[in-house]
Amino acid sequence: MRKISIFDTTLRDGEQSAGVNLNFIEKMEIARQLERLGVDIIEAGFPASSEGDFQSVQAIANTIKGCSVTGLSRSVQSDIDSAWQALKRGAEPRLHVFIATSPIHMKYKLRQTPEQVIESAVQAVRYAKKFFPIVQWSAEDACRSDLAFLSTIIEAVIDAGASVINIPDTVGYITPKEYGDIFQHLFNNVPNIAEASLSAHCHDDLGMAVANSLAAVENGVSQIEGTINGIGERAGNAALEEVAVALHIRKDYYNAETSLALKEIKRTSDLVSRLTGMVVPANKAVVGNNAFAHESGIHQDGVLKEKTTYEIISPELVGVATNALVLGKHSGRHAFKKRIDELGFQVSDEEVASLFKQFKDLADKKKDVTEEDLVALILGEKLANYSAVYSLQSIQVQYGTNHIPTATITLKDVHGELQQDAATGAGSVEAIYNTLERMIDADVKLLDYRLQSVSGGRDALAQVYVKMTFDGKETSGRGIAQDVLEASAKAYINAINRVLYMKKAALMKKELAL
Ligand code: KIV
Ligand code: ZN
Repeated sequence: MRKISIFDTTLRDGEQSAGVNLNFIEKMEIARQLERLGVDIIEAGFPASSEGDFQSVQAIANTIKGCSVTGLSRSVQSDIDSAWQALKRGAEPRLHVFIATSPIHMKYKLRQTPEQVIESAVQAVRYAKKFFPIVQWSAEDACRSDLAFLSTIIEAVIDAGASVINIPDTVGYITPKEYGDIFQHLFNNVPNIAEASLSAHCHDDLGMAVANSLAAVENGVSQIEGTINGIGERAGNAALEEVAVALHIRKDYYNAETSLALKEIKRTSDLVSRLTGMVVPANKAVVGNNAFAHESGIHQDGVLKEKTTYEIISPELVGVATNALVLGKHSGRHAFKKRIDELGFQVSDEEVASLFKQFKDLADKKKDVTEEDLVALILGEKLANYSAVYSLQSIQVQYGTNHIPTATITLKDVHGELQQDAATGAGSVEAIYNTLERMIDADVKLLDYRLQSVSGGRDALAQVYVKMTFDGKETSGRGIAQDVLEASAKAYINAINRVLYMKKAALMKKELAL
């Protein structure tokens, strides 16, 4: 069996999805889960792109030791310097440096001749090699590049020290056969190709990202790049869980495997979906809610007689059947902490104390407390502690078919000061948001509002996701509560807090620099 390395770019290319904006705590939780999933490389961000990205990449590189952590860089020294500062304490520092190679990108975007592009690429790789033991080089828009030029530049960057060559289908244009042919061409025409390993990076604009990635495996690549749930720019990237499960289920055909712990797939998918606000479609392969549901009578009959009649992937394989009852109403603190540890979260004593109280309150109101509920509580607690400029103290909403909905809200600020106000709206949620807007005294535009239940049943926790602009900045937030109106208020406050927190951090940085 050939080993295929999995390069996860959920935190970089995935985070470039429209409307996704992960904060430091969320990125760290995703990175920890990716480590548990067993990915080989985590692309944690683009350190030179912003202070926030730099800090997240650095913290992830300093914390995650079970796999290599990398960061993206343009072919300029300042980007490489910044990436080195962020990554140097990682377990296996690796740079991912790229430059565009297609005629269209070189002419209109870079405004460089092909010779200048080769020169920039070689200089960047040589410079990066002074610091990084592993340099991965990517030819942006490789699939619309001239193959002779692609071969020449690849030979040059391998000579300069690149040991991984990535061939991105940046615009999701290629077909599986054509993509496979590119790799064959490179194997046959780049004299020093044996000194590097080849990698595939596919986008899903034509719905072929996973098929293209698998074609790349068939044609000799040893690394696949992608994201969890296939999130990413435009139509997204190749969904890593689909690639890994396809290789596993069809190992007879591909004769290749990854080292992913497949039973962590569902949990990873849920976490990424919850933190990014990008809902997984019910019919999505491998992780969708309907992926293992058999609806028609003939299918149900077949599965009852013999599962394999209609089921090629068992739900247990990807961890779907593990959402069991976590703990009961009478569970003690010790068992509670043990369950949190088993889920892989790191929580402080203070967080355990607060979570235990929330768990007891929930267990009083809700019949079954599931793993999903517990994860929702933990993430809620972590976020609340991270950027709580404002927190919700109390909320009261009056609604009646013949009355104007009115919300009365009390907020607490970082200094512990309480503030109360009330406002009306066309509906209960609007009344809440009008009240909050007045209290925070800012221009807020709601762009999206989504409501989901965390697990099944009438007593399920509610999760609200909002996207909005606040003071001209786009932000998003999530809120969890047993009541949808309370969850709605929390999501709004969470979104506001993110912007206020970033502003505060930028101000502090400025003061320190003075
Ligand atoms: O799609 C792409 O070309 C990329 C590169 C930066 C690797 O994400
Ligand atoms: Zn990409």
